[in-house]
Amino acid sequence: MANKEPTKNSQARMIRSWMLGLHATHITDIGGRLGYFAEMRRHGGTASAEALAKALELDPWRTKVWCQAACAVGILQADGDTQFTFAPFMDELLGDDAPELLTSHVLASLSRDFPAYPDAFRTGALKTFHDHDADFFHHQGKVSALRAPVVVAAARKLPGMEEQLAAGGRVMDIGSGSGTVIARFAQEFVNCRVTGIEPLPYFVQASRKMLQEQELSERVDVCSVGGEAMSFENECDLVTMVQVFHELPDAKKVDILRGCQRALKPGGSLLLVDRCAPETGADLHDRRFTMSILEQWFEVTWGNIVNTRSDILAMLHETGFRVTQENPDIVPTYWTFVAQKQD
Ligand SMILES: C[S@@+](CC[C@H](N)C(=O)[O-])C[C@H]1O[C@@H](n2cnc3c(N)ncnc32)[C@H](O)[C@@H]1O
Repeated sequence: MANKEPTKNSQARMIRSWMLGLHATHITDIGGRLGYFAEMRRHGGTASAEALAKALELDPWRTKVWCQAACAVGILQADGDTQFTFAPFMDELLGDDAPELLTSHVLASLSRDFPAYPDAFRTGALKTFHDHDADFFHHQGKVSALRAPVVVAAARKLPGMEEQLAAGGRVMDIGSGSGTVIARFAQEFVNCRVTGIEPLPYFVQASRKMLQEQELSERVDVCSVGGEAMSFENECDLVTMVQVFHELPDAKKVDILRGCQRALKPGGSLLLVDRCAPETGADLHDRRFTMSILEQWFEVTWGNIVNTRSDILAMLHETGFRVTQENPDIVPTYWTFVAQKQD
């Protein structure tokens, strides 16, 4: 069926839905941070604002305002005049580790950059990924945990990779962040060795602590350097780079790909998972590009450049890689490139 022609009223409804979405994101984020969702669950899914406020030692009137606002956007429902309950499926969707709750945390962290946009657009001022605060890094790390299983599953499907890693192969993850990908490889392949390359001290410390707690430190290490400073030669069966390529300084991207080439054994594979910028007008309305376009928008003042698929392919070819696969569906909302070091 053809899409209905927009009317002035339907466009106005769309604008109102943005406003509701903005509020719903912050209501969800603040509800998660203050512990309202977890507390409601402890009350069997239904509680009064008074009971929530008392259990969490929060202001009762503000808690009631939060509950009412959560009802207005459809997160909660009134149960009688004083009790609140989860709207259908919201309990499950907003669980402590559920993707929807984590995403709203990150969105709320990201939205703190926007007040500085007008000035930054005039002056070109930058606030890089690394200039953010611990709360931002913490939430980035939690979202990354959602991608890790999908990335390892994608690696497992590369020809011969499962056997190589099971037999004690070596993986290197560039920009290993909170360490979720490196830990996941080590958990799934109990003989493999894994190295993370990570320049941000917050992530280096957090991931080393996590690896120690999970008793993985013997097989997994984290090098506290940027990809441009690594010096490995013919050592790895697999190099991964997940949601990192667009974070690299543009002038260093090709050099870092060369470093990946050197680190790989002949025939080894690079698994590069990242956003791809639109190349045509039609791409702007293609849902596969929506998250990439928005990612470039909320990172426009970080100095990051989301490359097009053609740019990435050209850089992979320039550095001598043979691209064996590219697919927008393996890791949802990302483009996945598999490139091989020639024998
Ligand atoms: C969006 S995070 C992604 C982290 C992780 N790969 C994941 O999947 O969640 C980008 C990461 O790239 C790292 N990074 C930034 N510049 C880098 C560089 N020059 N070399 C290696 N990593 C870098 C950041 O410190 C950060 O950990």
